[in-house]
Amino acid sequence: MADSYLPQDRLFLWWLGDATQPRPVGELGLAAGGRAVSLRYAPGWLRSGFALSEDLPLTGELFVPRDKDCAAGAVDDARPNRWGERVIRRFEPSPRLSILEFLLFAGDERYGALGVSLRADAYAPWRSGPMPALGSLLEMADVVRKVLANEAVPESQRRLVMPGASLGGARPKSLITMEGEPWLVKFSEGEEIDTPLVEHATMALACSCGVEAATTQALPVGSGHAVAVRRFDRADPARLHAVSAHVALRAAGEALGYPQLAQLLRRVAPADEIRSQQAQLFRRMVFNILIDNTDDHEKNHALLRQADGHYRLSPAFDVVPRAQGLGYQAMGVGDDATVSTLANALSQARQFGLKPQAAQAIVREVAMRMAGWKEAFTAQGVQARDIEVLAQYIDGDRLRRQREEFTPR
Ligand SMILES: Nc1ncnc2c1ncn2[C@@H]1O[C@H](COP(=O)(O)OP(=O)(O)OP(=O)(O)O)[C@@H](O)[C@H]1O
Ligand SMILES: [Mg+2]
Repeated sequence: MADSYLPQDRLFLWWLGDATQPRPVGELGLAAGGRAVSLRYAPGWLRSGFALSEDLPLTGELFVPRDKDCAAGAVDDARPNRWGERVIRRFEPSPRLSILEFLLFAGDERYGALGVSLRADAYAPWRSGPMPALGSLLEMADVVRKVLANEAVPESQRRLVMPGASLGGARPKSLITMEGEPWLVKFSEGEEIDTPLVEHATMALACSCGVEAATTQALPVGSGHAVAVRRFDRADPARLHAVSAHVALRAAGEALGYPQLAQLLRRVAPADEIRSQQAQLFRRMVFNILIDNTDDHEKNHALLRQADGHYRLSPAFDVVPRAQGLGYQAMGVGDDATVSTLANALSQARQFGLKPQAAQAIVREVAMRMAGWKEAFTAQGVQARDIEVLAQYIDGDRLRRQREEFTPR
């Protein structure tokens, strides 16, 4: 563990998927004038490892990402995004903050099963303290508030927010342990509605609509809530390799769309689960359209690697109405690009392995089950005023009419 950091131009990537022993994967280096991070596999990994993503096949070449401001292939999922970078900027004094440093400072609790080490001969992650427990939640929320307000944070409190740099995403978050299990916890940014509680209610509603969603809990914080989401990339004591749709589709040279992801599942999912996985993805897309979750971008979908090398969809996460009524999803939906309509969703049902009738049956089921969303949100404690804000969009003409078309009267 180092106390102060001298910028390095190379770091070492480790595999932490085998709980008994970290394994060296390769060497990370600065590329593109400091704007990107490359990977070269170590000989041992070439002999008995696996390709971390399709654009990182098991060869001895130097993989340099085509785009700037990212890391090669699946390594890109191991780095923080907006919130984590902000936390790192605040609390990790470093003469340089390239993507290599962001990768290092994300620490030992990062997403998936990759680790970043200062050393080639041992897994030596950046310092990390004990995982905060649920009892620290209110103090953690207060530190998050201070970070958002650019207020001073005493040294002793930093450990409460530093774990938030381990994961991606824009919203304020950290990590906690509850009943011995790892959860991430997401906080409000001071919006007018209680977004964390709405996220919890939406995830529960998604489950009742047949979407396999991550387990969440709403945790009271002040006059609102935080939402805790159980980590799906940990299978105590093992870690699961996770690849975002962003990385997977980019690696496959595909456009960023649901139909493309469904086709990718055809190649990577276990043979006897391809159909069910594709149908599940279709169901998620339909739910996102009807609930006005237009922030369903390609980092909000992930694939988890199984022990036999196949991949399955991770549970759904970050499913929350945007309360914006944009009318466009973040990923491609069908013939009409990203337009948020059920007709567009149905237009490429065959890419999801679905015959028209089967696809319509899924749409009908989701539409029927989510017709009672207001009651479901109320039962979760969402305030009437928040429901009214959301209803402007979810029950606005555009989405309600589409829902009603599939709901028998
Ligand atoms: N339950 C989970 N288990 C493991 N990793 C998760 C889980 N939920 C989210 N993640 C990871 O953390 C990242 C950030 O989480 P999430 O998308 O919920 O946050 P966010 O800040 O709201 O994101 P956005 O920037 O899309 O608004 C995800 O992209 C994913 O990589
Ligand atoms: Mg997200």
